[in-house]
Amino acid sequence: MWIADSRPRPLKAGLIGGGSIAGVHARAIRAAGGVLHGVASSAPDRARSAAQTLDAARWYDHPDELLADDTLDLVHICSPNGTHADYARAALTAGKHVVCEKPLAVSPADAQELAALATARGLVATVPFVYRYHPMAVEARARAAAGALGPLVSVRGGYLQEWRLAYDEDGWWTNPTATGPSRAFGDIGSHLGDLTEFITGDHVRRVSAATRTVRDRSPRGRPLTTEDVAAVTVELAGGAVGTLLVSQMALGRKNHLFIEVSGTEANLLFEQENPNTLWYAARTGGQGAIPRDTPQLSAEAARLSVLPAGHPMGYQDAFNAFVRDTHAAVHGQTSAELPTFHDGAAMVRLTQAVVDSAATGGWTEVAAPPATAPATAATTKEQATHD
Ligand SMILES: NC(=O)c1ccc[n+]([C@@H]2O[C@H](COP(=O)([O-])OP(=O)(O)OC[C@H]3O[C@@H](n4cnc5c(N)ncnc54)[C@H](O)[C@@H]3O)[C@@H](O)[C@H]2O)c1
Repeated sequence: MWIADSRPRPLKAGLIGGGSIAGVHARAIRAAGGVLHGVASSAPDRARSAAQTLDAARWYDHPDELLADDTLDLVHICSPNGTHADYARAALTAGKHVVCEKPLAVSPADAQELAALATARGLVATVPFVYRYHPMAVEARARAAAGALGPLVSVRGGYLQEWRLAYDEDGWWTNPTATGPSRAFGDIGSHLGDLTEFITGDHVRRVSAATRTVRDRSPRGRPLTTEDVAAVTVELAGGAVGTLLVSQMALGRKNHLFIEVSGTEANLLFEQENPNTLWYAARTGGQGAIPRDTPQLSAEAARLSVLPAGHPMGYQDAFNAFVRDTHAAVHGQTSAELPTFHDGAAMVRLTQAVVDSAATGGWTEVAAPPATAPATAATTKEQATHD
């Protein structure tokens, strides 16, 4: 018997950078049915060792060699922040689809140029804002979009880690050229800002930020000017106000990312270290935990809820779903959750506004996307309320 195989062709991916996040990408590529073909890094021996660790077929002596490999469909950029723009530009110019780690670039101009380039070339270009891919984060967004919260009053978010207090070695993160003008906010505040905009369907219009560099020397004595902590007051385009606290010096906090969105009718809290429930309170009565229990979920959240309720899903599942959607987009099937370079550029603009506000001590407008940028969930909703 002959059975036609209608499954799409497996995509062949290469990784630039083979450090801590590369393993998460490698597992997600395979979970999506793709092939991790090869790895390039800062030096040939590093590429070789990463390729062996990640079980890739080959390594490249230089990232340029990977970028010139015509057999690759997709390039994942997992190198330090300051290298992202050049590698992403080269990959898009070579006609490859791209997954680029956050921050997409260290300047808003570069980030916007990359977003425009991907659109102009018709290539899929995504940024792993993967916390969006937790089913209960999607559920929060679906309930907000359906009007269950009523008019949004406030947002309260935080992203707290402790690792900066523990490190006793220098790394690329102690080099301002490699990190860009913001360290903590660009690194993890970009996730928090993205999740805020994703769940509310609104965008941050202006910020008032205070930042602190608690240790102004790296472990080896290199001067550090970028921040360890950022406390940011935000105003959303729809009028809600809120606070976002970002710190990499909060003892005991491994990856404490949370966002609470409060409307006149209901309040929702998503915590990524407890991602299988959503806390809620409703004005008409009742409060508690909404479980990731498929019959109760929106269609959008149910799509991502791939394990039975009571069987916890986590970070790698969210990452896998993100890469699966990236591959589906390459095959022509887009999803509303997929964070593109336009979303990556939005977070570079937000980060720049935080840096500028902290420097001047006043409210700072977040630069608007250029008029040609395609509508995101946030801009679509804003447009709808203006019509
Ligand atoms: N999406 C997420 O949740 C998440 C989590 C962690 C890190 N990240 C991002 O991923 C990137 C890498 O972070 P990491 O924690 O894996 O860092 P890491 O230090 O563990 O790894 C960096 C890798 O890049 C390589 N490298 C250094 N300079 C290079 C260059 N010029 N060209 C090519 N390769 C180079 C290093 O050899 C190493 O293999 C950062 O931009 C970071 O912000 C994202």
